[in-house]
This record gives sequence, structure tokens and C-alpha cells, in this order.
Amino acid sequence: MLTQFSQSEESLNTFAPRLLNWFAENGRHDLPWQQHQTDTPNPYIVWLSEVMLQQTQVTTVIPYFARFMDTFPTVQDLAAADWDTVAEHWAGLGYYARARNLHKGAKQLVEIIDETGDFPQTLKGWEAISGVGPSTAGAIMAMGLHRYGVICDGNVKRVLTRWAAIDGDITKSATTKALWALAERLTPNENSGLFAQAMMDMGATLCVRRNPNCQLCPLQKDCIAHAEGRETDYPVKAKKKPKPSKFSNALIIGNEQGEVLWLQRPDNGIWGGLWSLPLEFIEKTEGQKSRKMATGTQKLNVRSNEKLYETEFTTAEQIINDWLHENELVAQPVSSTLLDDAPIKHSLTHFHWYLQPQRLVIDKAQVLELNDKLNAANIAFKWLDKQQALDGLGLPRAMEKIIAI
Ligand code: ADE
Ligand code: SF4
Repeated sequence: MLTQFSQSEESLNTFAPRLLNWFAENGRHDLPWQQHQTDTPNPYIVWLSEVMLQQTQVTTVIPYFARFMDTFPTVQDLAAADWDTVAEHWAGLGYYARARNLHKGAKQLVEIIDETGDFPQTLKGWEAISGVGPSTAGAIMAMGLHRYGVICDGNVKRVLTRWAAIDGDITKSATTKALWALAERLTPNENSGLFAQAMMDMGATLCVRRNPNCQLCPLQKDCIAHAEGRETDYPVKAKKKPKPSKFSNALIIGNEQGEVLWLQRPDNGIWGGLWSLPLEFIEKTEGQKSRKMATGTQKLNVRSNEKLYETEFTTAEQIINDWLHENELVAQPVSSTLLDDAPIKHSLTHFHWYLQPQRLVIDKAQVLELNDKLNAANIAFKWLDKQQALDGLGLPRAMEKIIAI
């Protein structure tokens, strides 16, 4: 089937040379992961940086990338590292699923290298690695192996929807298909790595989301959105629903030495594999405001109103919660504010999170009893003081916020 593009053959054919000329003169050539100036590219470097850059800006990634390369100079080093060390290096970059995929992907890559003697050499081979989607795989093929590869990430989609006035919702598969077809049509057979880097630079420096700098753009003369003065109408994206809110109590259970109990979270779910205080997720099942539960008091004891609230626990949290109940131990909220005014507010990809820290100190005998319960269920836990937790665990940001109060 012949694909119809909204741009002329002339425009389609000159796109790559115009972009590559612009890149040679004005692009970034000193990013620490770039491999276009070497004849022997390192796919590990490109894979690692691309995963880091998937949802994070270049300036944020640079120091993280440097630390990763320092500690894990090869994919074998990364695969052999323990998860806590990887998590600690990732802490602060966000979207932790990427870190888990990275660690898993390193192990997959080492297995392939042990079998074949080299990194995967095909698009399909790379797409089979955890955390590598079609665009990242294309980037690695093009930039990490100097083979042919096509990218079509968020930046590319913004440039192409504007240039070709593609006004379909980019979250729809028909639009995605059209964009990939256009990206493939435009990517030159030679130098697809340079082309990929140039497209990324264009999207990051000229054709930015707000106020694109069209005056300096090599695509300006036939850019349809620019001709219409409608640059920022693209890309068209269905309005996202507002993020839901979640509420949690975070238990700060201390011992007499001032150490606090930390749990390693299960691999699935929020913060998989990371260390966290025991949490009690509280979900509203009726009613709109958590204020309703606080009739007359400032208490946060949600169990008092099970009709409105349901709680959610991991196995470890359930054990702790049951044990607290059996012993009639109650943790005290560190502040008297209500749940949706909780002292810690934290936004994640899919929800806003309100966290209420609650403190409780238990004695030596109680510590031993609780330890026994957790050990019996094979739960990974640690008692650490504040500095040990900050230095050694690679805590998620929200946990850092809690121990800072
Ligand atoms: N974003 C994703 N990959 C990138 C790269 N290689 N350079 C700059 N920005 C990027
Ligand atoms: Fe983007 Fe403007 Fe260039 Fe069009 S002319 S591609 S809107 S920077």
C-alpha cells in the first residue's frame, strides 16, 4: 500500500540533508553518551543513556549517567551488582520501573553476550530486552551499533506532527502508525544514527513544546504548522484525566536506639524492590472528602470508618498491622492535619500521594517479637538510623521527605 504523506516528495527528500546540516553546525556534539564521533560505538553506553533519557531531561541525566559509568563501566558490572546498589544510584531519577528493567535488561544482555559473543545486533533482539521499546531499540541500532535504526519518541512526534500537520490524537494507534511511517520515510539509509541524534536535538532545542524557535529551524520553509501559525496546536493529545489522589499512613516504628524499621517492597507495585517505611494505603470507597471521617476529632484512625475507607497492605505491612493491633499499640500522627492535608505531598506518574507519618517507639522485647514475626514470613527488613537509611538504601524521594521532617 502506498502511504500518502501531506508533504511533497521534494520536501520529504530534502528533510534529512537539511536536518543533518543543521546538526553539524548547531547540534550538541559533547553529550557524554554520544557515539557518532567514534568508529567503534559502545551499545552499552547508548542503551544505558537512552533508558535514563526516556522520561528525564539531558541536564538531569548527565550526573547520574556519570555515576553509573563510574560504578558500572560495563554491562557485566551492572548485571553483577546487587539491586540495592543499582537502586541507590538511580534514586532521584524517578520512574523506578526503569531501574528495575535496566537491572533485568543487563542480566539478559550478559546472557546473550555469553551465548553469542556480542550484544544483540537486530531490532527484534533489542526489543526483547526489558524496558526497551521500539524507539529505544531503533536508537540503539542507529547510535549504539551504527546500523540502520528509526526513532519515533515524544520529541520526534512533536517535530513531525508540526512539520506535516498531523492532527490525529497521538495516543491513538492510527496516529502512531502514521508517525512511524513518516519517520521511516524520512530516515536516511546511511547515517541513521546521526539523523536520530539530530532529530532528538531538534526536538529538545528548537522545536520545543512551548515557543519553538522556528526562525532557526531547518524545516521552517515547508513546516505546515509554522505556516499556519499553529505550532503549539501540535501534537494533538487527548486530555488526560486529572490524576487521582491516594492517601497513606507511613509508620515510623522506632526502637530504643533511635533506629527505625525499613521494609523492602515487593517487586510488583509501587516502588518495587525499593526500601520504604511500612505504609498503610487508604482508599476512599465512598464519599468525596476524607474530612468526613474526622467527626469532631483530628484522629487519623481510618479503621474507625471502614465504610468509607479501605486499606491496602503488603504481606509485611499486614503482619506489622496485625501485631500492632494484638498489642494494642497505636502510632501517633506527627501532625494533626487531616489526610488530604497530610504533611507530605508527592506526585507520581499516575497519582498524587498524600502521606501522613505516624510515630511509635517500641521496647527491646517488642522489637524481638516483631523481628521474629517478619523473619518467619521471610520479609526483608532493616533497623537503621536516619543517616544509615539516607546513605545506604537509595530511598524514594517521598521517603526522604518523610525522614526529613
Ligand atoms: N533524549 C533521548 N535520547 C537522547 C539523546 N541521545 N540525546 C539527547 N536527548 C535525548
Ligand atoms: Fe518545529 Fe517551528 Fe521547525 Fe516547524 S518550523 S518544525 S514548528 S521549530
